[in-house]
Amino acid sequence: NENINRALEALRAGKMIQIYDSDSREGETDLVIPAKAVTFKDVKWMRKDAGGLICVAVDPVASKQLRLPFMAELVREASKTSDVLGEVVEKEGDLKYDSHSSFSLWVNHRETRTGIPDNERALTIRKIGEITEKKLSGDVIHFGEEFRTPGHVALLRAAEGLLDDRKGQTELSVALARMAGITPAMVVCEMLDDNNGKALSKEDSKEYGKEHGLVFLEGQEIVEAYMTWAGSE
Ligand code: 5RP
Ligand code: ZN
Ligand code: CA
Repeated sequence: NENINRALEALRAGKMIQIYDSDSREGETDLVIPAKAVTFKDVKWMRKDAGGLICVAVDPVASKQLRLPFMAELVREASKTSDVLGEVVEKEGDLKYDSHSSFSLWVNHRETRTGIPDNERALTIRKIGEITEKKLSGDVIHFGEEFRTPGHVALLRAAEGLLDDRKGQTELSVALARMAGITPAMVVCEMLDDNNGKALSKEDSKEYGKEHGLVFLEGQEIVEAYMTWAGSE
């Protein structure tokens, strides 16, 4: 698939792409860029033009090695001593588009001050990319030495079986990183519509991509390409 190849090339060059999940899921488009390549200008770009939450999706193998918890499991655990946490925690059937959310911790790198300015978020994001790479190459490194929580960058933990388990931008972006041979820590941010209070439509997202020279991918084509790639690995 020519589209996929162009996307992999862009990601290897540290450039932005777009991923639309599917009509039958969220029906949303995210701007997506490798964490290690992020500059403050990319954070500004996502904040102003996409407008959703700026998150970093982390590979399931690295997540496990870094011991990143799912936020819902953390809250469920803490609910043993707090009624309100038991009431509020995500339950089966809560999400209309998936079985569970991929949210993990919210973090700041320890070298940030407040953590919110574009250059501080960019630092946190790049360092997440770096620690993911180091951990996957076998380094003995502790997540807490570099990061603190709460913070201003949301970590997303990709599902254990990746696309077999879940087909959100979390897993779709990590699958692309694996195919591209780059560090599987990917920044995602939903594109919102400033005019109607909704997520930006698929057509308008595509139009935006055209204007900005971005490759636009749909979940299904990523799933198909990944199956072929994984089968040949
Ligand atoms: C975090 C989200 C976004 O939808 C993001 O695209 C990742 O989530 P998912 O994998 O569920 O699509 O909820 O802002
Ligand atoms: Zn979402
Ligand atoms: Ca999404």
